Formats: sequence, structure tokens, C-alpha cells
Amino acid sequence: MALDSYIRPPQLNTDRKFPDNMLSAHALLSRAKNGEKGSKKEKRYAVPAFNVTTIASINAAFTAYEMLGSSGLLAFSNSALKFLGRGDAVFGLEVVHDYVAKLAKRSSVKIATHLDHGDYIHDSGRKVVQEAVRTLTSVMADCSTDEKAKRPTPLEANVGLTREVVNMAHPQGVSVEGELGVLAGEEDEDTKSDFSTYTNPVELERFLRETGVLMLAPTIGTMHGPNKGKPGQKVKLNVQLAHELLKLADSIDPRICFVAHGASTLYSQVTEYAIRTLEKGNFSNGSLQKWKDFVGTDWDQIEGLIEAGFCKINTDTENRQTFLAKLLGTVAQEAAKIDIRYYDTATTEALTQSYIQKLIMAGNYGVWHDPKIDIKKFKFDLSKSLADAVGGAS
Ligand code: G3H
Ligand code: 13P
Ligand code: ZN
Repeated sequence: MALDSYIRPPQLNTDRKFPDNMLSAHALLSRAKNGEKGSKKEKRYAVPAFNVTTIASINAAFTAYEMLGSSGLLAFSNSALKFLGRGDAVFGLEVVHDYVAKLAKRSSVKIATHLDHGDYIHDSGRKVVQEAVRTLTSVMADCSTDEKAKRPTPLEANVGLTREVVNMAHPQGVSVEGELGVLAGEEDEDTKSDFSTYTNPVELERFLRETGVLMLAPTIGTMHGPNKGKPGQKVKLNVQLAHELLKLADSIDPRICFVAHGASTLYSQVTEYAIRTLEKGNFSNGSLQKWKDFVGTDWDQIEGLIEAGFCKINTDTENRQTFLAKLLGTVAQEAAKIDIRYYDTATTEALTQSYIQKLIMAGNYGVWHDPKIDIKKFKFDLSKSLADAVGGAS
């Protein structure tokens, strides 16, 4: 065991002042785990982490949060940061920091910015993680898989690397999410895993004690991407293991919050809308079959995990599906509108609907103020505009 693992990991500095209306992800998750809404205490809820990749998707998320009074967690993958930073992820962090801080300052809700799947194993990724500690309010130190060797990182190395990130981040008030176990599926445009392993409880105890992370992504059977199983077959999570791990983590430190990666649901409204459009159009390259083969995570099981204490649910794929379905439908209806904003508005409104849908499902509304729309009137429907879907309000 490394010498510094005997020294207690640094505590998260909860006195850190972030820009106006910004908080660490852990601060938002704690409130969710304790069911805190305003000054009231209610049922547990979860914070969806939306993988935003464009200015339009950031705007859509803010609109959804503000309509519902939700806690907002914007997740940025390395490739999203590269995209936003014109090929340079570190520059992407600057762009994101400035833009989100400006939006948050004039917002009615509170926001966390999170580096998703931060790669602290390779030099290029390490630089991004270091800069993210300076510019975001939360980072994930994803040191659980050696993608080059196609096997889990040895526990010793995962603990050591994650602990280095905690040493850097916690004194700055930046919360850290660790991962233990290997998640299947595509987690980054450069990172695909065709194998997976469940989190081992004995390893979990050592990982939590020695790293000091307050957010943990265990692997319990969820997977990334649009093909989480076979059509017609329910995705089966290892719920029993999830409960065992939660109990263990709670006994070590009740502030620890669990995270479900690969939590995208498949919205039937979205697939049906895309399939209808593809069937009517002249698309001949197998896209229709691909849409028919998509399988999402089973929401009933995710709901059970939220009740048990998972309080961050990572959702990317379902929002990409919403965006693409709406783009297909909009172009099918009107393919000669010479105005970028026409197509952007349609897809951004659709994304907003997707975010609202997940926030409502996760119970994440009324956290900072009462919803500005009637939750019961919201109907996720891609054939409608946002104003119509939320029942007339805009
Ligand atoms: O799990 C991670 C996300 O799905 C990120 O995907 O790297 O293509 O942005 P991306
Ligand atoms: P999905 O592919 O299920 O959206 O998962 C996204 C994710 O885990 C991002 O970290
Ligand atoms: Zn993930």
C-alpha cells in the first residue's frame, strides 16, 4: 500500500465560493439524497447529468431547469470540450466556464459543471482534468479501465490516481466522482469497452476509504450508448449488488452519493416519431433498422435505485435521440428553409422537452422555486412546439 494512502484524504472544502448560483455537483446531490427542496424535506430525487455538447444544448438545459426550478448538472465529456474549444479541450473548458457562469448569474436556479469521464491515466487527459479542477465545480476521475490494455486498471493504480485528483480538487471545493468496475458500451468517441465487470464490495471499501471521493460510479449492469440489450428484452441490472454497495458506502460515510452511468431511457415517443419519419422518407441506408434496434435502460429499475440512494443519473443518448428525431422530422416537413435558426430552434426546443421529461421522472422540480409550468400538463411530444408541450406557457 502506498505511504500516502495512510494519510486521510482531504475533505471537500464546502466554504469555497463559486461564481453566482454555482455549486459543486456534490452539494446538489446531497440535497437530492436528503430530499431537500427549498426549506422543505421531501422524497428523495435524483439529479440527471445531461451531457451537453453545444451552446444550444446548454441553453436548452437552462430553459428546462428554470421552467421547473430544478437543480442543474451540466456534464462535459472530453470530446464535447474539444468540440466546443475548436479542437482544444482545455480551451473548451474556458469557453464553458465563461458561458455557463454568465448564464448562471442571471438564472433562477443553481448549477454545477462537471467533467465527465475525466481521463487521468494518459498525459493528454491529465491536463484536461487539471484544468477542469480550475474551471469547473466537479470532476470525474475515471481511472477504472485501462482502455489500451483492454482490462480493468489494477485497484492500486485506480486508488492512487483517483486519490491524486481528490488531493487537487477537494481543497478547492471541487467534488470528485470515482469509478470502480468496468462499464460496457461507448463512453467517449475515443473510448469503447466491449467488456465489463461488476464492482467488487471488498475493493469498494478500500477505494472509498483511501480516495475520499464523495461520488462513486459503481458498475451494476448499466451500459452506455443506444444498444443496451436486445429489442423486446428488459435490461437487467444487478439491483441486489447495488443495494449491498450502497449499504457499505453509507456505513463508511453517509455523504457518499452514488451515480448511475448509462441511465438513458428509450422514449417511445421519440423512436416512434423517428420511425414514422424514416418510413415516409427516402432513407435507404439501414437507419430505420438501427432505430428499431435501439434499447434503453429500464426506468423502473433506475427509479428503484433512486429510492435506494443513487442521486446522479447520467443521460446522454436519449437526448441525442430526441435531437436527431426532431431534426429528421423538421427536415422532412420543410427542407428549403434558408435559415439556420429555423432548424436550431426546432432541435433546441425538442432537447428542452427531453430534459424536462427526465427531470420530472427523476422528481427534480421545485428544488429552488416552484415550477413555472403545470407539471401535470406537460406532454413530451415531438410533433408539438415547446410551448404546446408544456401546456401553453413559453
Ligand atoms: O458517457 C459519455 C458520453 O456519452 C459522452 O459521449 O464523448 O461522444 O460526448 P461523447
Ligand atoms: P447513456 O449512454 O445511457 O446516455 O449514458 C451516458 C453516460 O453515462 C455519460 O457519462
Ligand atoms: Zn458515463
